[in-house]
Amino acid sequence: MRMFDIIRKKRDGVELSTEEIKFFVENFVAGEIPDYQVSALLMAIYFKGMNERETADLTFAIRDSGVKIDFSDINGIRVDKHSTGGVGDKTSLVVAPLVATFGVKVAKMSGRGLGHTGGTVDKLESIPGFKVSLSKDEFVRIVNDIGVAIVGQNAELAPADKLLYALRDVTATVDSLPLIVSSIMGKKLAADDDCIVLDVKTGSGAFAKTLDDSLALANAMVNIGKRAGKKMLALITDMDVPLGYAIGNSLEVIEAIETLKGNGPDDLTKVCLELASNMLLLAGKGKRTACRHACEKALQDGSAFETFVKMVKAQGGDTSVILDTDKFAKAKFSREIKAWTSGYISGIDTEGYGRASLLLGAGRNKKEDSIDYTAGIMLKKKTGDFVKEGDVVAIMYTSDEKRFEDAEKVFKISTLMMDTPPEKRPLIFARVE
Ligand code: URA
Repeated sequence: MRMFDIIRKKRDGVELSTEEIKFFVENFVAGEIPDYQVSALLMAIYFKGMNERETADLTFAIRDSGVKIDFSDINGIRVDKHSTGGVGDKTSLVVAPLVATFGVKVAKMSGRGLGHTGGTVDKLESIPGFKVSLSKDEFVRIVNDIGVAIVGQNAELAPADKLLYALRDVTATVDSLPLIVSSIMGKKLAADDDCIVLDVKTGSGAFAKTLDDSLALANAMVNIGKRAGKKMLALITDMDVPLGYAIGNSLEVIEAIETLKGNGPDDLTKVCLELASNMLLLAGKGKRTACRHACEKALQDGSAFETFVKMVKAQGGDTSVILDTDKFAKAKFSREIKAWTSGYISGIDTEGYGRASLLLGAGRNKKEDSIDYTAGIMLKKKTGDFVKEGDVVAIMYTSDEKRFEDAEKVFKISTLMMDTPPEKRPLIFARVE
């Protein structure tokens, strides 16, 4: 088999066989195929696409490229939730302990921030002492004791994805449906969960900007997960506006804590309740409405927050900052962004807000960049709100004052103002089973 022939076939729109897909992934990971040939194939896939069978084969080849995690030592049903990535998306911090409160096991392996989107592992690292790297025995023990632990992805899990993503990132081939599906599901399926609920984001801050693209992404991922024997479900949720008001690592942890105590913003609370109740449904914990009521109660009566505190303690984190969030380290500098005119905020380029937060130091441009955990943006107004000229729209935080200028520029051009209110968008667009 020759890589040249595989590239030519895909370039000409011909379906690749299971053996050809396995050949390219296995030999790329083994260092036998040069980056330029894989880049050419990625571009051919970008233009010609892949059918469901090819996408499933690529997913399974990525899954099989490294170690498979064996969680058979964990007692009980294991449920996971995965978001396709967004701005201000701190749902994992709420949903994982919330679901674990009901005896379902959440052995979560999360990622770091990717471009304008944040990552759960970075957020958790803003808690002093929190360890996102645990031995397998420690991880299993904590999940068995408390019901939940969240760690960074094992470096040996699906290595093909890391290599492919690095090439996609520099060859403008990230936003391809089969490549996104196989990247996300290749990693998810290498972990040993029974049920997976996907949160597929749609809108200006999501990888999939339109509802049609998000539905296609959700359907493809649900079908592949089912082929692999998992119980699957996806929700399509709005990412045309940041979720909640906080963007940036410690700011988001604080907002997640408020949500776990039942005092969170409406949109964030609703999405968390919907995700958590669907996770419990898949885990066989009862009807969806009953699961939802139970989740609402767990946010109100403090039991979900209690699980979160136990998890932070078990993973070495300083629980005093969780119990009193005023103790979180503060950014050295803050700047109020005031409305430059009066009117309604009629739309937000949410990716732009993500980029503004990154410019403040909350994310990474390159993998090696370090993060300012205190940096970010606290929104005071969002899409649909009326503002008068001079009203505070947001407060920016950073440890490096020089960063404000560019971040403010990006923030302002990402905020659209009009005289009339925008049409209301749903928060949850669809549920894909
Ligand atoms: N998240 C991933 O893990 N991979 C993608 O390709 C896109 C989002």
